[in-house]
Amino acid sequence: MLPGAPWDVAKSIQLYGFDYWGAGYFGVNDQGNAIVRPDGHGGPELDLHELVDQARQRDIRLPILFRFNGILRHRLKTLHRAFSAAMAEYDYQGGYRPVYPIKVNQQRHVVSELISAGRDLHLGLEVGSKPELVAALALHENPDALLICNGYKDRQYLELAMMAQRVGREVIVVIEKPSEIDLLLQISREQDIEPGIGFRLRLAGRGAGRWERSGGERAKFGLNVAEIAAALKLLKEHGKQDWVRLVHFHNGSQLTNISSLKQAVREAAQMYVQVSRYSPRLKYFDVGGGLAVDYDGSKTAFESSMNYTVDEYARDVVWILKEACDNAEVVHPSVVTECGRAMVAFGSVLVAEVLGLANTFTTTVDAKAVPGQTEEDTVLNMAQLLQDLTPKNCQETLHDAVELRQTMLSQFSLGLMSIEDRALGDQCYWALLNAINSATKELHYVPEDLRRLPALLTDTYFCNLSIFQSMPDSWAIDQIFPITPITRLNEEPRRRVVLADITCDSDGKVERFADLRDIKHYLPAHELKEGERYCFAVFLVGAYQEILGDMHNLFGDTNAVHVDIARDGRVAFTNVVHGDTVGDVLRYVAFEKSDLVERWRHALEAAVAEGRLTARESAVLQRKYDEVFGDYTYLR
Ligand SMILES: Cc1ncc(COP(=O)(O)O)c(C=O)c1O
Repeated sequence: MLPGAPWDVAKSIQLYGFDYWGAGYFGVNDQGNAIVRPDGHGGPELDLHELVDQARQRDIRLPILFRFNGILRHRLKTLHRAFSAAMAEYDYQGGYRPVYPIKVNQQRHVVSELISAGRDLHLGLEVGSKPELVAALALHENPDALLICNGYKDRQYLELAMMAQRVGREVIVVIEKPSEIDLLLQISREQDIEPGIGFRLRLAGRGAGRWERSGGERAKFGLNVAEIAAALKLLKEHGKQDWVRLVHFHNGSQLTNISSLKQAVREAAQMYVQVSRYSPRLKYFDVGGGLAVDYDGSKTAFESSMNYTVDEYARDVVWILKEACDNAEVVHPSVVTECGRAMVAFGSVLVAEVLGLANTFTTTVDAKAVPGQTEEDTVLNMAQLLQDLTPKNCQETLHDAVELRQTMLSQFSLGLMSIEDRALGDQCYWALLNAINSATKELHYVPEDLRRLPALLTDTYFCNLSIFQSMPDSWAIDQIFPITPITRLNEEPRRRVVLADITCDSDGKVERFADLRDIKHYLPAHELKEGERYCFAVFLVGAYQEILGDMHNLFGDTNAVHVDIARDGRVAFTNVVHGDTVGDVLRYVAFEKSDLVERWRHALEAAVAEGRLTARESAVLQRKYDEVFGDYTYLR
């Protein structure tokens, strides 16, 4: 694309990085609308703007979380293909058993879709609590798929796991604490059942990335070498060595650096080899989760990225394990992965509408007209700086402008400046900063202080969503999610914006955006047009966000729509899960509708008795109050 050429969709694809973070699932069509390709590159394309229209025609209001069944299926196949290819390449004999850790997204329709897509691949489930196990007991129906029980366990948890074994599921109870073996020995005696167990290893090597402390010797979970030796001794004393089927480690989610993963696999593979000498039925090597998602598309070891591909991940696991087993003449185990993030993150896209604009810092001023409006020297000087600005003096002008603004603020604080002069002075200052920023485009080298200007000169777009509910990791751990407008991508975005949500919390903002080299502190966006809906899509929100989301200000779950492509090629909304209503979220905090309605009725009666309202007016106010309980928690 030549510099100065008119804007087109290719420029938007580049600017927003669709091809970097989108893994082929997202792009832009000729109409300038964001699209989703559920089957990846070359597959059918769904126009997000049209999907929003179709949802709205069905009275499904924004914000809407779209879940794409096709992407879930495609991710699973991608992972499976990577391991099959690696095993074929290295002549690995052990086979691959994918497992979905349901903690990553327990939404019923997501889990069911994965189970049905993974039937032929023998996709198993991993659970970490009793509620997750209860769900898995009912949904997991494939005798050739694993059911892995992680997390701390009590007797009830273990008994539930044994129930699954009784009905023919292949259950592995992963031992997190030595005392769990004692409990299992008791249950086995009482119920005459022989459980399958696994050891979660507490490896010496840590992971890398935000969750690096999930691994290493001080990790919360797992058994250290001494504990494993003791466990093997205990099992031998009871003649139960053949309970051990699996060796497992999990060094944290979102492992950004492949070298830390390789180090962990090496250590764990040696443990597998050692344990196999004591446990004749050991046959699974479970590398846990950790496979990352490249949220910013930079392909680096940055927290929101990853410096490797799925294929590289699979090849490294398979090769290291094969080498360790071959050297020790141990039969190749089946490789188990519990990669949830990489399976479901891509599948969900949140679309939210912009409600308005605040904090406009993109402004211009007619500097020549300023002397006619004020006699205040500082303001006149600011306007003069604007008139005298050239690319050559722009750094010096910035320094002068900052100093002059300080003087202006002091004058105002001391009561020496009127509110009108202060307003005009501020406008000149921001107009000057915008002009300086434009002038820097002429420079061959842009000095550091000028480079900070774009992040300063941002407007705020208010969006009808709650960051805390829909993208909590953006707030809690500074996770980057790719965000783009869903329309007008064939127009140049001339505004720099940050996003604010509708909660009453100053943290309810997104001010960090995906960038290949660094973090971008603004998002390019289009001018809002009167009467035209302008929406953003937040991509890659399928992992953890829904379940970690909270109800700050009582904004509840958003509407969720499962999208699939029917056999005849038509788009189908296969499931619609309506978001929380006002009544739902109030009930969550123990406010019963009947009680509230009755109390409000008393207040209205009192107002009627005092003559503030007529009986008829009170009826209208009662009806309005009642109605809101069934309504969506987001703004209309
Ligand atoms: C034991 C276990 N397995 C799998 C996962 C999922 O990992 P990921 O988020 O990398 O998919 C987790 C999450 O932390 C976990 O604790």
